[in-house]
Amino acid sequence: MNTPNLNDVVDHGSIAVCCGSGGVGKTTTAAVIAIEGARRGRRCVVVTIDPAKRLANALGLDELANEPHRIDVTRWDPDDARVEGGELSAMMLDTKSTFDGLVTRYADSPAQAQRILANNFYRNISSALSGTQEYMAMEKLHELHEDGGFDLIVVDTPPSRHALDFLDAPARLLRLLNNPVFRVLMVPTRTYLKIAGAAVQAFIRTVSKVIGGEVVDDIVTFFRSFEGMEEGFRTRAARVVEILKQPETRFVLVTSPRRDAIEEARYFAEQIGDHDLSVDALVVNRVHPQFGTELSAGLRARVETLRELELGRETERQARDRLAARYQNLAEFNEIAERERAQIETVRVRTQSAAVAFVPYLPHDVHDFTALAVIGRILFAAPDIGAKPPPGDG
Ligand SMILES: Nc1ncnc2c1ncn2[C@@H]1O[C@H](COP(=O)(O)OP(=O)(O)O)[C@@H](O)[C@H]1O
Ligand SMILES: [Mg+2]
Repeated sequence: MNTPNLNDVVDHGSIAVCCGSGGVGKTTTAAVIAIEGARRGRRCVVVTIDPAKRLANALGLDELANEPHRIDVTRWDPDDARVEGGELSAMMLDTKSTFDGLVTRYADSPAQAQRILANNFYRNISSALSGTQEYMAMEKLHELHEDGGFDLIVVDTPPSRHALDFLDAPARLLRLLNNPVFRVLMVPTRTYLKIAGAAVQAFIRTVSKVIGGEVVDDIVTFFRSFEGMEEGFRTRAARVVEILKQPETRFVLVTSPRRDAIEEARYFAEQIGDHDLSVDALVVNRVHPQFGTELSAGLRARVETLRELELGRETERQARDRLAARYQNLAEFNEIAERERAQIETVRVRTQSAAVAFVPYLPHDVHDFTALAVIGRILFAAPDIGAKPPPGDG
């Protein structure tokens, strides 16, 4: 049986979706995966979402528009060790420009695009509507995938309170566009009053009173302007779901071993399963190392034995106490590591065949290529736990 693992994601994936709760290391992992792909000769792009400022700087994202931008090879491959052909690009998802780009690209005419872009209601929802960020991440993925040019697209996902918002975002936008009230509003003016039922007319009058007639006009205009583009949104939404279900799309679940993160990761794993998708790799970031092979119980037993040891001389007693304290310390440290591993196991059983890779808690932040390379070596030098190393991998 072939166990999908991180090496496989990097070598054979065409899309890698990094998901997990906020702050666990999704953005970091996404960058590391893209760099590794580039080192192995693939043309990779990492689509980041709200990267920490210093990481954004390192990736050259500060001066950047909403399009992939090639990172100079000397930055990510200073030793010139990559396989021929490898490329690394990065972009930062800008929700508003992605939405604007869609409107411009898919409007029937430049005039229609202009009408929508200038609409106040549009200007508000294009950045503020909840779920828009998730939706635009999926639209961007669709665009990069259909335009070609990259062998591997690594997507960072927005930190959602609801685990898999990004998977449901296209459907939600469609629900908004299909809302019966909006459907009525989209009917051209002359016929609209005739056919709009009394209830809808009353609704519009009430809404106008509350939020102002001008705003309602904006909304009406917005939905009318969108006419004809809706079909495109529906088609792309369906296509994104298809793309996500392709076997070349890989899901990398990132978590930390902290209890709350683990709980969310378990939930993610279940949700991914409910969408008929599977977690291909589980990255557990910021784990505490386990020192030696002896478990905490054994270490504690040693502490007891030492403490019970009757010694004559004061210096011997002091040495015994110091040694007992060291073992005690080690026992406590390993207990944290053991507890973390037990927690992780509860996620692992829900991800079935996913390979698990551990990244230790580093003494520093990860915001430049040197630090990303450290994590890259950890993730890719060692074979994944629970996975056979791929044949011929040196
Ligand atoms: N293994 C690690 N050790 C130490 N710091 C880390 C590690 N992984 C990530 N970080 C730091 O933790 C913070 C959150 O990581 P990030 O990748 O931005 O998480 P997310 O995208 O999931 O919110 C960043 O400042 C990053 O540099
Ligand atoms: Mg992030």
